[in-house]
Amino acid sequence: MIMNKIKIIPFEKPIYITRPLLPDKEEVYRKIDEIWNSKWLTNLGYQHQEFEIALKECLGVPNISLFCNGTLALQLACQALRLSGEVITTPFTFAATPHVLYWNRITPVFSDIDPYTFNLDPDRIEGMITPNTTAILPVHVFGYPCNIDRIQEIADRYGLRVIYDAAHSFGVEVNGEKIGNFGDIAMFSFHATKIYHTIEGGALTFRNSTLIERLSFAKNFGFKDEENIVVPGINAKMNELQAAIGLLMLKVVNKEIEKRKMLTSIYRKRLKSIKGIEFRDDMPKVKHNYYNFVVTINEEKFGMSRDDLYKRLKGYNIYTRKYFYPLCSQFQCYRHYPSSSPKNLPVAEKISKKVLSFPLYGDLQIEDIHKICNIVQEATI
Ligand SMILES: Cc1ncc(COP(=O)(O)O)c(C=O)c1O
Repeated sequence: MIMNKIKIIPFEKPIYITRPLLPDKEEVYRKIDEIWNSKWLTNLGYQHQEFEIALKECLGVPNISLFCNGTLALQLACQALRLSGEVITTPFTFAATPHVLYWNRITPVFSDIDPYTFNLDPDRIEGMITPNTTAILPVHVFGYPCNIDRIQEIADRYGLRVIYDAAHSFGVEVNGEKIGNFGDIAMFSFHATKIYHTIEGGALTFRNSTLIERLSFAKNFGFKDEENIVVPGINAKMNELQAAIGLLMLKVVNKEIEKRKMLTSIYRKRLKSIKGIEFRDDMPKVKHNYYNFVVTINEEKFGMSRDDLYKRLKGYNIYTRKYFYPLCSQFQCYRHYPSSSPKNLPVAEKISKKVLSFPLYGDLQIEDIHKICNIVQEATI
């Protein structure tokens, strides 16, 4: 029997991979009034002070330091911990992760990933440690937590520091513990593409309170007071408008996470019967944030490659993203490192060629997800 294909009409307006969550506009205007009246625009003003307290409470952490973006936050985290030599990290991440090491004159050493979580595989880390290794920089990729216990155990055994790149992990909890409480320092990105954002922005969370002073010097040109510049610091401060947006976003982010959870469940229900499309479920004892929805395409079973599905969806005005492809280890600036050899990174190489992030944001309509899934389904027929 020949099945008649129903003609699916492309979306009139593009469906992007994400759309930023926005706070109430009237409330933003009121915040702008407050800032204008105070005439304090940056340098740890009222909004910054209030935001720091509120965010610390929300993230459930003992100490926090706010930054103008996540990249500079991570860069200064490495300096605050006096890292040098080599740091073990994942190739399956955004460019900023290895770049902050490079900017600190540290060599990123790429280690392979776990095929389920897409995070550093603890079984591979030890083999990458040398006398020059000072730390491990794992990423909770797409908000799926790393194997925290194993990584800490390895770090303790070799006397290494752990900095978590938690850029994707706002709101995530593991065994009832908030994700910012693991490792020596955790970095959150508040870039507009993240589930929670301050347009641009970032934060470091940590248990060791002596880092507060070090980080505050580092992000403000090294100023201790008006006349004492104690380190060659940089300018990485969060300004008052960013902090004000952050305060307002705290009111709306939980609802956004709930909406994305519901939309994720629709994707999962619709795609689970399609051969060759694989995706992860929630992990046990983890509170997820549903930051994005990622599938891997098994070309043989699905009958179409990841790249062809990407192009096909684009033809319908749907913008998926190949996150993370290419691997950081394949960037021109890093591909000559011995650890970048594909032989060292077989799982990451495989996953990066199969992975595709689908559109996901709170305002995405349920019928849009059904239409996206119909197009995927039709590709297999
Ligand atoms: C894993 C990861 N690390 C670091 C960053 C850098 O953060 P920012 O854009 O806030 O500088 C990002 C994304 O933007 C990211 O996805």
